[in-house]
Amino acid sequence: MSDIVVAVDGPAGSGKSSVSKEAARRLGYAYLDTGAAYRALAWHCLDEGVDVENPDAVLERVRAFDYATGMDPDRYYVRVGGEDITPDIREPRVSAVVSAVARVPEVRQSLNAMFRRLMDEHPAPGVIVEGRDITTIVAPDAPVRILLTASEEARIARRSAEVSAQTTEATAQQLASRDRQDSRVVDFMTAAPGVIPLDSTDIDFEQTVQALIDTVRSGI
Ligand code: C5P
Repeated sequence: MSDIVVAVDGPAGSGKSSVSKEAARRLGYAYLDTGAAYRALAWHCLDEGVDVENPDAVLERVRAFDYATGMDPDRYYVRVGGEDITPDIREPRVSAVVSAVARVPEVRQSLNAMFRRLMDEHPAPGVIVEGRDITTIVAPDAPVRILLTASEEARIARRSAEVSAQTTEATAQQLASRDRQDSRVVDFMTAAPGVIPLDSTDIDFEQTVQALIDTVRSGI
């Protein structure tokens, strides 16, 4: 395993992906975006016409899931079957169905095994792994564990700025629906014992990156 594992969890729109990636870049660490794998699987199911509400059909897909991701924050990519789908996994149609894919327990087990393998394979000095259950399930022994939160208003505003193709209302509804579905599977709204909460509601991107880096440095 990389020398230092930094586990970061948080809800949709908390900024954890962009903040974690930038912090990894500045620390010279690798970066693992676990949500991207769930999104890629959801994209793959849509692409293949698989009914995402059918757990057996989704499970069949995960068994032969040819997933690859770039863990260098400067060369981040997401590929399925060799096809680069980095921008596609952020499409609203993928966000709308990803929770259905992510609630299948065997899918989670399979992807968690892959995440641990990717964490193990990556060289020192460290890796930032972000998602929903990294601090509690995937890497509960990580030396630094952080829960990145923000008020619902702030999260909607940030996500709306990213997804310009739809109204703020539609984005708000999607975000709330995804959080509701996801929180039935894992608790990413409250910090588990030993997990450091970091609230980014009233601080900007740069300050959040700095706060994350400071937390990593004081935790290792
Ligand atoms: O982090 P992001 O919002 O891109 O994650 C997309 C989806 O993947 C989440 O809404 C959730 O359903 C799923 N997910 C998960 N566990 C993780 C990371 C993501 O269930 N560790």
